[in-house]
Amino acid sequence: MIQDFLKAGYPALCILTQEPSRAEEFLPCEGVQFYAWDCIRGIRPAKRPQTVEEIRDPVEAINWLNSHQDSVLIAHNLHLFTDIPEVIQAIQNGVTKWKSIGSCLVMISPVIQMRPELEKIFTVIDLELPDEESLFHIQMELAKTVKVEPNPESVRAARGLTEFEAETAFALSLVKTGRFSSKVIGEAKAQMIRKSGLMEFWQPADIADVGGLDTLKTFIQNRSKAFLPQNGHLPKPKGILLVGIPGTGKSLSCKATASILGWPLIRLDIGGLKNSLVGESERRMRQATSVIDAFGESVVWIDETEKAFAGSKSSGETDAGTTASMFGHFLCWMQETTTRALIMATANDISKLPPEFMRAGRFDALFFVDLPSLAERKEIIGIMNRKYGTEIPLEYAEKLQGFTGAEIEQLAKDSLFDGLDAAMEAIVPLSRTMREEIQNLRDWARTRARFANSPDEEITEQRKIRSIGGAEAS
Ligand SMILES: Nc1ncnc2c1ncn2[C@@H]1O[C@H](COP(=O)(O)OP(=O)(O)OP(=O)(O)O)[C@@H](O)[C@H]1O
Ligand SMILES: [Mg+2]
Repeated sequence: MIQDFLKAGYPALCILTQEPSRAEEFLPCEGVQFYAWDCIRGIRPAKRPQTVEEIRDPVEAINWLNSHQDSVLIAHNLHLFTDIPEVIQAIQNGVTKWKSIGSCLVMISPVIQMRPELEKIFTVIDLELPDEESLFHIQMELAKTVKVEPNPESVRAARGLTEFEAETAFALSLVKTGRFSSKVIGEAKAQMIRKSGLMEFWQPADIADVGGLDTLKTFIQNRSKAFLPQNGHLPKPKGILLVGIPGTGKSLSCKATASILGWPLIRLDIGGLKNSLVGESERRMRQATSVIDAFGESVVWIDETEKAFAGSKSSGETDAGTTASMFGHFLCWMQETTTRALIMATANDISKLPPEFMRAGRFDALFFVDLPSLAERKEIIGIMNRKYGTEIPLEYAEKLQGFTGAEIEQLAKDSLFDGLDAAMEAIVPLSRTMREEIQNLRDWARTRARFANSPDEEITEQRKIRSIGGAEAS
C-alpha cells in the first residue's frame, strides 16, 4: 500500500486509522526494513514484540532513523508528541536526510492533528477498512473453533467494521444466537455511526403520518423500485432535494422515505462536522462519507442544507475555503459513490444554496413543498386528530387556508387546552407574515422544481393565496 510512496522517496507519511496493529501488519513490503516504535516498547522490528533498541523518547527515536538506510519507522501515536518543539525540530531536520538514504517516518494516527510546522512534510493516507474477503477470513477462523457454519450475509453486513469490531461482533452473535446473525452484526454497526460522533440515527416516520404531498410520495415509491434485487439494471437514485416553506413537512418526508425504503435513517449534520483545527473539518467530512460507504444501505438526511453550506461561495467569510472544500468533497462523493444510500436534503432558502448544488443531474429531483391544499389540510387534520385525540372537524380545513402542517399540529395541541376557536385565533400563520418570501419561492419553483403537492390542488390554492394578498392578486 505504501510501496509506491516509498519508491517515490516520500520521507514522511501519516497513516490515518483506528487500527494501529492492523496498520503494522499491513504496511511492510519487500526491499525495505520495517521497524515500529512506541513510547512503551521502544524500537522493535515491525510485527514482532521484542524490543531491539531501548529508545522510548520520541526525539531519540526520530533521530535513530537518521542512521538507518532503507528503513521505515512506524511510529505509533507520535501525533501525541507533535506539540513538543524538539519533536518538530527532529522531524524537520530529519526529512532531507531520510530522503537521501531511502528511509521514511510513518506516523500512525487516528486523527489528522498536524501542526502547521509539519503540515507540508507529511503525506496523509487512509488505511482502508477490511474488505469482505478479510472479514470472511475472520469469521472462518471463529467458525472453526466452534463448528458453526459461516454466513456470507452476515459478512456483508459487517462491512465497514474494523477488524477488531468485526471479530467482537461475530463473537457476540455466537454468544447471543449461536450462529452468525446479520441482525446482531447490524446492531454492532449501529455503534459505528454512534461512535463516529459524526452522525446520528433517527427514528423513521410512518408514511401514513405524512398528509398530502402525493407527487413526492409517488416519486419516492417509484424510485425505490431501483433498489429491489430484481431491478439491478435500473439506475440508482442518488438524492432528492426538498425546498420550501417552513413547517410543510420536508423533514417529515425525509424521515418517511426511510420507512418507504425500509432502510435506517442517518442524520448528517454538516454544520456539526465543522472544526476550527486546520484540515479537521474536511477530514470529518471525508470520514462521514466513508462511514456511510462502510455502513451501506441507508437514507442520509441532511437538514437545512443552505445553512450547512453557507459560506462555500462567499470568499469574504473566514471559513469559506473550508466549507467550499467540504462541499466539494460531498458533491464528488455523491457523484462517485456506489453505496446504496439515498440522500434526502432539505432547504428553506434556495438563494443561499451554492448553484453547483442545484445543477441538473446532481439530484434525481428537486421538489418544491408548498402550503398544503384544502384536501391536504383535511388529511393533516385527520392525522393530528389521531395523534392527539382531538376531534377537529374536517370542514375546519376551509378556515385553515395558508396554514402549514406544523401550524395545524400546533392548533391541535393548543385546542386541547384553549378550545379550537381560541387556539385558531392565537396562531398567526407564517403565510401571512412571510407572504412575499413565499411568493418569491413559488415564482422560483415554477420553472425549476417539481411540485410535491398534487398539481391541480396547488393551482387553485395558489390563486386563493394570491387573493389574500389583495392588491397584487392576479
Ligand atoms: N404534510 C404534513 N403532514 C403531516 N404532518 C405535517 C405535515 N407538515 C408538517 N407536519 C407536522 O409539522 C411538523 C414539522 O414539520 P417538518 O419539520 O417536517 O417541517 P419542515 O418543512 O421540515 O420545516 P422547516 O423548513 O422549518 O424545517 C412535523 O413533525 C409534523 O408533525
Ligand atoms: Mg425541517
